Amino acid sequence: MTDPKLRVLISSDKIQARIKELGAQISEDYPTGDLHMICILKGATFFMTDLVRAMTRDVFVDFMGISTYGKGKTSSGEVKLTKDLDTSLEGAEVLIVEDIVDSGVTLNYLMHVLDQRRPHSIRIAALLDKPERRLRPVHVSYVGFQIPDQFVVGYGLDYAERYRNLDSICVLDHGEAPPA
Ligand code: IMP
Ligand code: MG
Repeated sequence: MTDPKLRVLISSDKIQARIKELGAQISEDYPTGDLHMICILKGATFFMTDLVRAMTRDVFVDFMGISTYGKGKTSSGEVKLTKDLDTSLEGAEVLIVEDIVDSGVTLNYLMHVLDQRRPHSIRIAALLDKPERRLRPVHVSYVGFQIPDQFVVGYGLDYAERYRNLDSICVLDHGEAPPA
C-alpha cells in the first residue's frame, strides 16, 4: 500500500522473525499442561495466528471481545466484555495474546476477570508495548517490540477500522490531532 501518511516502523520480515523467536520461547516455557491461548479481538488476530503456528506444542485457541469506553481513543478505565470464551479455564495455563499494551487499562481488567476462573497460571504476550503510556500496572511476559509513544497501524492494528491488513507496522501521520 503506497500511502504518504504511512511510514514503516517494523517490517514484515522483522515481525515474522520475532514471532518465530517468541513461539520457540513460549513452547519451551510450557513443556506440559493444557495451554489456552486467548486472542483479544480484533487487533490481535494476526499476531495470534502467526504465533500459534510458530509453536512446537499443542495449544487451545479461544477468542475474547473487549470494548473500552473513553473520550477519543484513550481508555477511560471502563471496560466491557463483548464476547466471552467458549471454554473453561479451570486448571489451565492461560496466555492472553494482545496486539499492543498502551495505558494497560484493558489488560489490567482482563487479568482480574480471568483470574476469577481459577486457571493454574496466567501470562500475557503482546506484540507491541508502549511503556511510556502506562496508567495501570501490567506485567507482560512476552513482548515482541517496545515502541515509542506513536500511533501505529497495520498487522491487525487499526485507525477507525482501517489499515489492519498491512503486513508491516507503520506510524500513521494524521495531519490532525492524534487519536490517543
Ligand atoms: P490500553 O487499554 O490503553 O492498553 O489499550 C490497548 C488497546 O488500545 C489496544 O488493544 C488497541 O486496540 C488500542 N491501541 C493502543 N495504542 C494503539 C496504536 O498505536 N494503534 C492502534 N491501536 C492502539
Ligand atoms: Mg485491541
